[in-house]
Amino acid sequence: MKILVTGAAGFIGSNFVYYYLSRYPERTIIGLDNLSYAGNLENLSLLSPDQKARFLFEKADITDSVLIKKIFSKYPVDGIINFAAETHVDRSIHDPQVFLKTNILGTNVLLEEAKNIWHTKSGVWKEGKKFLQVSTDEVYGTLGPAGYFTETTPLDPHSPYSASKASADLVVKAYHDTYGMPVNITRCSNNYGPWQFPEKLIPLLIHNALLHKEIPVYGDGKQIRDWLYVEDHCRAIDLVYESGKNGEIYNIGGNNERENIVIVKKIISLLHEMTGDPRIDESLINHVKDRLGHDRRYAIDASKIKRDLHWEHTVPFDEGIARTVQWYLDHREWMSNVISGEYTQFYAKNYMNR
Ligand code: NAD
Ligand code: TYD
Repeated sequence: MKILVTGAAGFIGSNFVYYYLSRYPERTIIGLDNLSYAGNLENLSLLSPDQKARFLFEKADITDSVLIKKIFSKYPVDGIINFAAETHVDRSIHDPQVFLKTNILGTNVLLEEAKNIWHTKSGVWKEGKKFLQVSTDEVYGTLGPAGYFTETTPLDPHSPYSASKASADLVVKAYHDTYGMPVNITRCSNNYGPWQFPEKLIPLLIHNALLHKEIPVYGDGKQIRDWLYVEDHCRAIDLVYESGKNGEIYNIGGNNERENIVIVKKIISLLHEMTGDPRIDESLINHVKDRLGHDRRYAIDASKIKRDLHWEHTVPFDEGIARTVQWYLDHREWMSNVISGEYTQFYAKNYMNR
């Protein structure tokens, strides 16, 4: 059984590769990534020798239909889990185009090439194939102080990032509705954990605090996100891939809403305690200009995946966040390779001329 995992060198993709290869010792992953600024093969440097042998990497851009066609004929995979995307909301505000290209057109290239290998001439889909689109709660827009997003909440994206993810979801749905392609869509809340690129709130603030640099908090910091430990997300994706009902959407969330400022203060206090560094304190917090169109609150109702697939998150926030902070303290070289740009050499040093 071979699956294609796109975006395998990113934050959630790499966590998924570890999760999947250790859960299924007989299975192989074709990992695909274009190694954009967010793709870091060093994220996969802790695979065991056995896991490495079952991880075949292809450097490719999902918008390149010629290359994707070649890869699909080299590996006629049984399923595709599409993590590949441009993911940072702030970047999407400054430069939306690449978001539309990768997230919408790239998803369409994958769907089209998957259709070419999975849809037989007699119009029947081969057995046991699935396209799983990894999406986000941000497609639903923003909430007031009460209520939750369910799978039937209307799409109402606000940022170019969330608009591109919502559009991709609709293209996936269209392939299901029009051609009968077997698909699932998952929509998850904010993830945290190891190997996250330090442009996102949690790794950015850990990085800055350790260097006594200011921690930028957008606006009043009272925006609310629902945080989920990344391994719980990986387990949910695996479950949906294995058992999700064809054509269904599943929300995934940690039932764990926190204001940004609460997260920031919690991590400062953990870092202070774990490092004993008296200079890491709340004086590092700097309230800066708010993000344009900043969504105020996200909150997921995950009762469908709990009821139908018996998924539950297993890592309580206090445990997950302490584990995460410790992980970044233990992997300072990884962080410094990212900051210096050294990480971009990892592919050439370890994967070329093998
Ligand atoms: P990430 O930015 O860390 O990783 C994205 C990966 O995709 C990177 O390795 C990047 O190199 C690769 N990529 C980008 N453009 C590509 C292209 N054109 N061709 C091939 N590869 C390309 O993001 P992440 O946080 O790991 O997110 C993974 C997926 O999960 C995304 O689809 C995102 O929308 C979704 N998601 C993320 C979160 C979160 O909190 N991080 C929450 C819900 C959903
Ligand atoms: P982020 O990690 O970028 O994820 P997303 O925008 O996809 O939710 O941001 C999480 C929250 O933290 C979001 O409300 C924006 C806020 N934020 C800051 O206040 N300061 C920062 O430097 C960053 C990167 C984010």
